[in-house]
Amino acid sequence: MDHFRYQNGELVCEGVSATALADRFGTPLYVYSAATIREHVTRLRTAFAALSPKICYAVKANGNLHLLRLLSSLGCGMDVVSLGELERAFVAGVEMDRIVFAGVGKGEQEIRAALSPVHSPMRDWRGGDGPDAAFAARLAKRGSVSCFNAESEQELEVIARVAEELGVTARAALRINPDVDAYTHAYTTTGKADNKFGVTIDRAIALFDRFGSRSRSARHLVLDGLHVHLGSPIYTTEPYVAAIRKLLVLEHELRARGHAVRSVDIGGGFAADYETGKTPAYDTYAAAIVPLLLPLVERGVQIVMEPGRTIVANAGVLLTRVRYTKHNGGKHFVVCDAGMNALIRPALYEAFHFIWPARVPAELTPTERRSEMNMPGLNPVDVVGPICESGDFLAQARKLPRVDPGSLLCVFSAGAYGMSMASNYNDQPLPAEVLVEGDRASVIRERQTIVGILEAESPRR
Ligand SMILES: Cc1ncc(COP(=O)(O)O)c(C=O)c1O
Repeated sequence: MDHFRYQNGELVCEGVSATALADRFGTPLYVYSAATIREHVTRLRTAFAALSPKICYAVKANGNLHLLRLLSSLGCGMDVVSLGELERAFVAGVEMDRIVFAGVGKGEQEIRAALSPVHSPMRDWRGGDGPDAAFAARLAKRGSVSCFNAESEQELEVIARVAEELGVTARAALRINPDVDAYTHAYTTTGKADNKFGVTIDRAIALFDRFGSRSRSARHLVLDGLHVHLGSPIYTTEPYVAAIRKLLVLEHELRARGHAVRSVDIGGGFAADYETGKTPAYDTYAAAIVPLLLPLVERGVQIVMEPGRTIVANAGVLLTRVRYTKHNGGKHFVVCDAGMNALIRPALYEAFHFIWPARVPAELTPTERRSEMNMPGLNPVDVVGPICESGDFLAQARKLPRVDPGSLLCVFSAGAYGMSMASNYNDQPLPAEVLVEGDRASVIRERQTIVGILEAESPRR
């Protein structure tokens, strides 16, 4: 579901024409639809309402401050995996009690700042326009993150030591590696035994014995939560069911040993509509997951979810202009101004993004988004970028309507892990980002300039 559709052969986002946006703001351009984000959050919350989950949006999917403010206004907390993301969420107005801090390699400085504002780099923040007294006051008052999702014994030791030094109490959930296959790309599978994430169930019991609510360390570190994240995107409910069943057995065992389990975080991973009809509805996920977790909720356990992709992927597109077309080795290439620098998912994960011209004759209006489009007059092309790598492509052997230099292409479902993974490779400036609300479009991130890139490396006078 999203608010990008064709009207008389012209792609529009909510009430604004994609071509008009590209003409006004240039390309490559990320365009987001606020209504799509709102609708995804509402639908997800409705589907899982029986669990009253704390929805902590995964900032890594897309951390633009304006999108975080929108998500915060919709009642979302945030799941962060670095101090940078934590401060980003805080600057967007999210208070610490709504932030969970995950990540397999949190540094000691990151842990310090997550526990005490005295160590926050944002003490130097001027908000862009000089000193901001309101922000400084908010920062001075901020406490600790609501929960660390810890991934190893050594990390728990560091959190406990730092909390003791600072004289505060940290809360942690333990990330469990349930050895469950999420059947997704090898690089985005995180819940199998040979992945770097979490600890095994056996280790979990020993760590609760050491750091749990009945342990001696509990004055400065309370380990009373369980966390799991299996990978992404997950197109079936079975992996969730298998992992949660294992968590339930562990929770029972921990209780039997006298440990409190106050929260269970089931991570993210819910899919997005990259192809029409491939993704389960939220109700389908919920029908499998809710009955398993309801008994915990009835005992007062807080359920946490960390969705990223499913909320923002379909809410964003990447607009790119065709620069050249050419034939090589029996293939047709469409060379665009955006490639792996702007959207790396096809190159890195062999990910599929539906691509179509922003303006087409009426008979070529797509009614579905599929890898194989069944329409007359399409030709297979490789859609490639300007980067000096043969792996720099947005699509390969993709059947498209005819395009020419100057044509505008839309890369759909690019709102998640698009801009947040974009780079300056080949000294390509980062794209601009625009947020559409109804018939209004506002720039939410200026296009990076070459001067801006070089300034960061220039010696200070
Ligand atoms: C710990 C954790 N939680 C949540 C997410 C968000 O996943 P998704 O965007 O697929 O919902 C990720 C993604 O990598 C993650 O590592």
